[in-house]
Formats: sequence, C-alpha cells, structure tokens
Amino acid sequence: MENISLGKSKIKVSRIGIGTWQASFREWGSDVNDDSIIQAVNRSFDLGVNFIDTAEIYGNGHSEIVVGKAIKNIDREKLVVATKVHGAHLRHDELIKSAELSMKRLGVKYIDLYQVHWPDPWEQISLRETMKAMEELYLDGKIMAIGVSNFAVRDLEESLNYLSRASIVSNQVRYNMLQREIEEEVMPFCKKNGITIIAWSPLAQGALTAKYNVKNLPNDRIRSGNELFKKNNIRQMANLLKTLEKIAKSRGKTLSQIALNWLLSHDQVVPIPGAKTPQQAEANAGAAGWRLTPEELSAIEEELEKIDIDYM
Ligand SMILES: NC(=O)c1ccc[n+]([C@@H]2O[C@H](COP(=O)([O-])OP(=O)(O)OC[C@H]3O[C@@H](n4cnc5c(N)ncnc54)[C@H](OP(=O)(O)O)[C@@H]3O)[C@@H](O)[C@H]2O)c1
Repeated sequence: MENISLGKSKIKVSRIGIGTWQASFREWGSDVNDDSIIQAVNRSFDLGVNFIDTAEIYGNGHSEIVVGKAIKNIDREKLVVATKVHGAHLRHDELIKSAELSMKRLGVKYIDLYQVHWPDPWEQISLRETMKAMEELYLDGKIMAIGVSNFAVRDLEESLNYLSRASIVSNQVRYNMLQREIEEEVMPFCKKNGITIIAWSPLAQGALTAKYNVKNLPNDRIRSGNELFKKNNIRQMANLLKTLEKIAKSRGKTLSQIALNWLLSHDQVVPIPGAKTPQQAEANAGAAGWRLTPEELSAIEEELEKIDIDYM
C-alpha cells in the first residue's frame, strides 16, 4: 500500500483510507450490520489500509463503537484513527467532552486525527474558541493532529491564525469526479499550505460504480436525498460509465477502482471510500499502487466535460 504524510505532520496514512459512516444503518439502509463493517475494517487493515475515518454523529456514536470493536486487537501504533466533533459541539468545554466521549467509544487513549466536522453554520461560536480547544487537546497529547472538514478558504485562513503551537493537517471535503467544486479555491489553498485533502464520497456514494440506473436506484435515506441519483443525472452519466468500464476492463480493474484512482492522480488527495462489506473494502484498497495513464485520464475528462449535474 502506498503511504502519504498527513499535511506537514509525521503521521503516515495509507493512500486510500476507509470511511465508516455506513455503520449508521438508519441512514444507509439495513443491508449492513456491525459484523460486516467490522470485517470491512479488518480486511482493509490486512491490505495495508491504516487510516479509518468516523465521527461522533455517525449513528449517534454507533460508528465509533463499531470501529472500536474492529480495532480492538490491532496494534494501536499501526493505526491512524480519525474522528470528528459535531458542528454543534464547538464550544470549548463541549468540544473537550466530545473528544473524551469519542475516545471512550473507540476504546483508545488518543485520537490520531481530530476533525471539526463543519464550521458552526450560525456563526455563533467563534473559530477562535474552537481552535483553542483543539490546540489544547493537541498539547495535552489527547489528539495527535488537528483536522477540519467542509472548511472554505476563509474558514481555513481564520483558523490557521488562531493556532500558534499546532497547525491544520487536513481538510475533509466532498470530492469525486462528478463533484469537483473544491478544485477552484479550496484545493489550491490546501496545496499551497501543505494541507492534505481527505476526499469524502469519493465514489459519489456509489453512482460511479455503475450498479445503479434509472430502473434501479438506491432507496436508503442518504441517497434518496442525493441529487446525483435523480433520474436525469443518472442518465447523463451513462457514457462516462461506459468509458470507465472500458478502461476498467483493459486494466483488469473494477469501476470503483478507476473512480478512486482518478482521485489519486491529484497529489495530496486521500479518498476514504465507505465500505459495507469486506469485498467492497478489498476492491477499494486495490485502487492504490498503480496509476491511470495520461490517455486514460484525458478520455475520462472528455466525458466529464459533457456532464452538467442538475442540483435543482
Ligand atoms: N466530512 C463529511 O462531511 C463527510 C460527509 C460524507 C461522508 N464522509 C466520510 O466519507 C466516507 C465515504 O463517503 P460516502 O460514504 O458518502 O460515499 P462513498 O464512499 O462515495 O460511497 C460509499 C458507498 O458506495 C458503495 N460502495 C463502496 N465501495 C464499493 C465497491 N468497491 N463497489 C461497489 N460499491 C461500493 C456502498 O454502497 P452500496 O453498496 O449500497 O451501493 C457504499 O455505502 C464516509 O463513510 C464518511 O466516513 C464525510
């Protein structure tokens, strides 16, 4: 497995991580259970994936509990455990308490990467207060690195100003070949400042796996509300998926591996695909260790240019 440093820190993460929001069954559907998620995490680890992402909000703490069970017998030093504080717990005392509770659920004495899930949408809590609490956790050795999520450039700039003895190593944002809004401002800023991009929804929540079509759409809570699965958007993807399929066939890869590998063609990007089963985890881990050729990337780009996702 390829590895990459998290920001300017000494922490090395596998080039592909694993996301565990899927342990929130109420949102992702009942075709998964604790065991399949545990097996997915363990299979990933066996294949060199050391980077596991969760959050206190996923299943109201259930995802952290499941991750805790999955990593119980793994050497702690070999893991990079990332979790997130809910955007409503960003006051100093609440944030410290959230971190303590996450550690308890995960069964760990420290969190490798603690991330602010999103900035306070009502702007009632100052980023200064939040970042000072994050820095305190860092200086106390309770977290090994500070990360953020869904931060725009202005949030990043402001937050960096409040940190004097630590820095921000990563920004976890939506990024997949169909949803590339971060390329305009966030990505260049992160590159310039040595901040790793952790890509959420790297498979466009499964839209890039070609499992779905207008007659077979996912009906779980999460994807029922995702515009990508609207019929006109799914229809638009048909030619792109054909191209991805062709490349996948000629390279002996799966479609999901092509979609994830496309993200690896961008430096500083670490995708964290969510896996429901060990089979999915295995396929996702196989997306690292090779690269799409410039010709393959151009063929994909040509198809992407024809797609205009409708968000209305
Ligand atoms: N920071 C944030 O605000 C934020 C937001 C969203 C997600 N995240 C994190 O990012 C992770 C990933 O994002 P995501 O869950 O939204 O979307 P994703 O990784 O793009 O898609 C995950 C879904 O794709 C399908 N899948 C996964 N691997 C597959 C494979 N090899 N072959 C075929 N299908 C496969 C599975 O669903 P089916 O099998 O049912 O199709 C799975 O539930 C989450 O688990 C979470 O940790 C963070």
